[in-house]
Amino acid sequence: MAKILVTGGAGYIGSHTCVELLNSGHEVVVLDNLSNSSEESLTRVKALTSKYLDFVEGDILDQQILDQIFAAHAVDAVIHFAGLKAVGESQQIPLAYFDNNIAGTISLAKAMERAGVFRLVFSSSATVYDEANISPLNEGMPTGMPSNNYGYTKLIAEQLLQKLAAADARWSIALLRYFNPVGAHKSGCMGEDPQGIPNNLMPYVTQVAVGRREKLAIFGNDYDTPDGTGVRDYIHVVDLANAHLCALNNRLKNSGCRAWNIGTGKGSSVLEVVKTFEQVNGIPVSYAFSPRREGDVATSFADNARAVAELGWQPKYSLEDMLADSWNWQKRNPNGYRK
Ligand code: NAD
Ligand code: WQD
Repeated sequence: MAKILVTGGAGYIGSHTCVELLNSGHEVVVLDNLSNSSEESLTRVKALTSKYLDFVEGDILDQQILDQIFAAHAVDAVIHFAGLKAVGESQQIPLAYFDNNIAGTISLAKAMERAGVFRLVFSSSATVYDEANISPLNEGMPTGMPSNNYGYTKLIAEQLLQKLAAADARWSIALLRYFNPVGAHKSGCMGEDPQGIPNNLMPYVTQVAVGRREKLAIFGNDYDTPDGTGVRDYIHVVDLANAHLCALNNRLKNSGCRAWNIGTGKGSSVLEVVKTFEQVNGIPVSYAFSPRREGDVATSFADNARAVAELGWQPKYSLEDMLADSWNWQKRNPNGYRK
């Protein structure tokens, strides 16, 4: 059993990870500024697990709050989810992304060093890979220059953490490169709750199904893929949450900095997602083809062999599970965590 500081723990992936941590007997302290979440997600974490967690409302850029947390709690490791994640927004307000995602990661690492805490699991993204790589993407392939500022912040944060671990052997850092997280907790009490118009496919589909949006725009049907629509590696958020527990265990035994892909290894097209959603849930999803979205690649899916071999992690859930669970959450909570 360990005590884990979870930054961004009130968010989509963080809250699901808190459930898995608590159910495994770990103690959890969450630091979140609630800029893209609400405390209601943590209320539900506690209700689902019948366990207590500490919540501190605050910013990872705030050194004082970080010092107070490390002084008050004997933290063994940090899982760092906090950050901004909207690709389009990152082009409009780059400084906010540099600040939260790059300076925020530096701020956290400085406080960890002062506190003598050196185990870190970092939320990275498949977006760090060079677009010229052909899927399945493996960790030995070159990273690139991401086409948007969000991706750039993940790449820079990864590189800073690699250099930090290379310079000081006390650090033990896991870079988890997520593919496309979707799905929700089986209970239907927790899920993804984007503010405003969703940027990502899955919440857009569920919002059309529940009647909050009229029609899904499928961005491009002329890609070099089996049905012309984009192919991605969708991964159930509970499988992703469990990958963090596996990475934590690995980091307790090893030093240095290492990257792992967290995906299923299977690509699904946008049309396949829509059709499977309709079949599994018995709900129609209206859609229309529209032009390609700038910055999208045709195909991206993982080679997850390294995570399976080294972390002892194995994704359990199918695309059908992901789509059933996303819908279960959306239909029970048509307005997300808002009443
Ligand atoms: P999310 O927005 O639901 O969660 C992020 C949380 O961090 C939110 O609760 C937000 O309030 C908090 N936060 C943001 N800036 C903060 C700051 N400066 N100080 C304290 N808290 C702050 O997003 P998510 O989907 O759960 O993503 C979690 C992490 O995983 C992010 O770093 C994201 O970039 C990364 N990631 C997400 C995806 C995805 O598709 N969801 C894919 C790859 C990587
Ligand atoms: C999936 C597929 C779209 C919306 C993004 C970030 C990435 C990572 C995960 C954080 C694509 C298509 C989408 C819609 C559509 N995030 N689509 N209509 O772009 O693979 O990855 O989220 O790290 O960095 O770039 O995910 O869900 O936006 O798109 O047709 O309304 O669905 O073109 O083929 P993406 P997505």
